Amino acid sequence: MSKKIYLYGNWKMNNTYAETEAFFKDFPAVYNPVKDAPDLEVGIFAPFTSLWPLSQAAKKEGFIFGAQNVYYEASGAFTGEISIPMLKEYGVTHVIIGHSERRHIFFEPDEMIAKKVKALLDAGMTPVFCYGETLEERESGNTFTVMERQIKSAIAGLTPAETAKIIYAYEPVWAIGTGKTATPAQAEEVCKWSRELIGQKEAVILYGGSVKGSNAKELLSQPDIDGALVGGASLKPAPFIEIYTAYKG
Ligand code: PGA
Repeated sequence: MSKKIYLYGNWKMNNTYAETEAFFKDFPAVYNPVKDAPDLEVGIFAPFTSLWPLSQAAKKEGFIFGAQNVYYEASGAFTGEISIPMLKEYGVTHVIIGHSERRHIFFEPDEMIAKKVKALLDAGMTPVFCYGETLEERESGNTFTVMERQIKSAIAGLTPAETAKIIYAYEPVWAIGTGKTATPAQAEEVCKWSRELIGQKEAVILYGGSVKGSNAKELLSQPDIDGALVGGASLKPAPFIEIYTAYKG
């Protein structure tokens, strides 16, 4: 059997409530032909304000959905934050943690990211943990040092059973939203290396950074890449699902 492919869409700060409803008017027609593919898992990660219409569509269409961030405390004086119990009421099972935009624009440190990962695992939820190097870090030869710090910090103190439950996403910062994709060899090199560092042969490791229909086949065919975390190409149903059909093509 062919390997399972994870196709996860990260909408970032895009799609209002009304736009989310409009997305799911068009979605079934595009999604139905691949909906029951045994090797495909689709996930959509939306802004908090779109979680309600997203949860309704997910129930109907049968895909995974989640949030793009969460705070690790259950409640309290944390103005502007959203907690795990709040997400659970919406049926959220997966949450993106440590996305480079959270790290670089909102200065989330490794320690905070690690606490979020642990809190989600404790709640029986799945963290989609992102890591990756900036262009400067790559060009100065620090790619692996930086990522080792990011990954080790997130999994320190976790049991092997817990590290196996995390979904990992390698996203080189220089490839996110830039149209510059890592070459399949570059992405495979890092995903293979990550698998060894994590110490889980069966770990699910995604690649993210300008994934689209035209580069999906080469990237997703790499042995250590289990799927894609997609930003820009996930905002409309057709280019999003095309990533899977192009891979299968
Ligand atoms: P992109 O974003 O596909 O628009 O490059 C990927 C991501 O940041 O998850």
